[in-house]
Amino acid sequence: MSSLPLKIGIIGFGPFAQFLVKTMIKQGHSIRANSRSDYTDLCNQLGISFFSDTTAFIESQNDVILLCTSILSLSKVIKSLPLDCLKQPTLFVDVLSVKEHPRDLMLQVLPRDSDVLCTHPMFGPESGRDGWKDLSFMYDKVRVTNEATCSSFLQIFASEGCKMMEMTCEEHDELSARSQFVTHTVGRVLAEMEIESTPIDTKGFQKLVQVKESASRDSFDLFSGLFIHNRFAKQQLMNIELAFETIKQQLVKKTNEEDSEQS
Ligand SMILES: NC(=O)c1ccc[n+]([C@@H]2O[C@H](COP(=O)([O-])OP(=O)(O)OC[C@H]3O[C@@H](n4cnc5c(N)ncnc54)[C@H](OP(=O)(O)O)[C@@H]3O)[C@@H](O)[C@H]2O)c1
Repeated sequence: MSSLPLKIGIIGFGPFAQFLVKTMIKQGHSIRANSRSDYTDLCNQLGISFFSDTTAFIESQNDVILLCTSILSLSKVIKSLPLDCLKQPTLFVDVLSVKEHPRDLMLQVLPRDSDVLCTHPMFGPESGRDGWKDLSFMYDKVRVTNEATCSSFLQIFASEGCKMMEMTCEEHDELSARSQFVTHTVGRVLAEMEIESTPIDTKGFQKLVQVKESASRDSFDLFSGLFIHNRFAKQQLMNIELAFETIKQQLVKKTNEEDSEQS
């Protein structure tokens, strides 16, 4: 089942929005974009409208406003929107990689008659390059009165074969601190070590190089947002430090045992 054509306004037309929009255009949705930088030429190439004027963008009667800004800039961006110019109740959706933070901001700032859907597509331009089949899509219907618009939006992902995972924003942040944040942190550590492929790579090492490369492709704003705006991430960073210390001590202890056996 494909979704009904929606008018989708995107705020923050960076790498992730540009990736999502290709599928939305293919599915026949009408897309308009607004961003801090000027994307007029790119939008012309894609055959969609770019609004440099935020008021005109808000007034353009979108069924859905999709927030695709960086985690760190969302607060500033959402608080500066001229929301009194909204012409109709609108479904606001975010795709940020943390979930409690945008949920709290949207509930605090948006008009009460606007619906709120928090989502996190658990993939990006690399992992979703050849399609979205079997890739996870997390969502939380935080405040939804217009079920038709919400389910049409979700259908964008369901119809591409995504694994639709409904859970609370809190559950998401706890799980993703343990998985995505740890992956990004390890990838950044490996990048800091400047690891590179060797002529005798094991399969395991090839995977580590991939983790390093994929972490390096995402912006530092994204990575630091995963830490600053996910209350569960601090514990994971401590776990990584503790685990590293424990392993180091185990190695030192074993080395000392071996040394004393040989002497
Ligand atoms: N990349 C992924 O694989 C992925 C996957 C799932 C979810 N996400 C989420 O999608 C969102 C966008 O990610 P991204 O990969 O495109 O890169 P990002 O670096 O997290 O965000 C880039 C976007 O944020 C905007 N922005 C940054 N600072 C700003 C500021 N001070 N004021 C206004 N706008 C600002 C940029 O606007 P301009 O371009 O106009 O400068 C651009 O649209 C993030 O929240 C991320 O967590 C990303």
